Amino acid sequence: MSTNVHSPIGVFDSGIGGLTVVRALMERLPYENIVYFGDTARVPYGVKSVETIAHFTTQIAQFLLEKDVKMLVIACNTMAAVAAQMVKDLSSVPVLDVIDAGAVSARGGKKIGVIATPTTINSNAYTRAIHDYAPDSRIHSQACALFVPLVEEGWLDHEVTRLTAQEYLKPLMAEQIDTLVLGCTHYPLLKPLLRQVVGEDVALVDSAEAMAEQVAALLAEKHLANPGPAQPRYDFHVTDVPLRFQTIGERFLGRSLNHVHVVKW
Ligand code: DGL
Repeated sequence: MSTNVHSPIGVFDSGIGGLTVVRALMERLPYENIVYFGDTARVPYGVKSVETIAHFTTQIAQFLLEKDVKMLVIACNTMAAVAAQMVKDLSSVPVLDVIDAGAVSARGGKKIGVIATPTTINSNAYTRAIHDYAPDSRIHSQACALFVPLVEEGWLDHEVTRLTAQEYLKPLMAEQIDTLVLGCTHYPLLKPLLRQVVGEDVALVDSAEAMAEQVAALLAEKHLANPGPAQPRYDFHVTDVPLRFQTIGERFLGRSLNHVHVVKW
């Protein structure tokens, strides 16, 4: 197995949500080839046990390593929360994860709110990661189980989503947070609505953008950046229902989505 500057970056998620990270990578690093894996047959992960998620995560990381990726990006917060170390242990190439990227971006905050899936919140991974960079910050976490299905339904600016957000964010706003970490792949799509709910004074941390910056820095440091200018290739592997992946995925990606392959496990 050999990797070089032209090798793709491997990005993976439990389903469609990781495309928010792919989008940020396409914008920040337009010459990079990307191979994406979305486990659409087994999504959502955010309400599953640690053992199950760890097993699925290992399987996906191995699949991408066989594609000769030059780097692995764990785009799913839930997988990063419970299995990041496991992926790092088995990988022959550098591994980055969205939780670390989000924590770095949140480090300027004093009272930091974190919203994510129940499994991510229960793991305390964000609290630990943020405290590594900002030991004096106070962190208030809130699981938001309903946001993923609302985003997948396309209800990005819908009254039901607004009421749901107001309810979830009430305890965080009562703590007068100055920063809100969007700790789930789907939440960047809710940014305009969340901005209305929290007001202008709360900084919103989008881990997709933060991740693109970390990938760019690591590629430069390791001399692995693709110099271009050839048209990059984007491949998408999913475990089920490629049509739905394509339709909803285009919303996440903000552009048309081709080269979708079904993996039967
Ligand atoms: N990708 C997951 C995350 O970022 C959200 C979807 C799921 O629950 O699988 O936490």
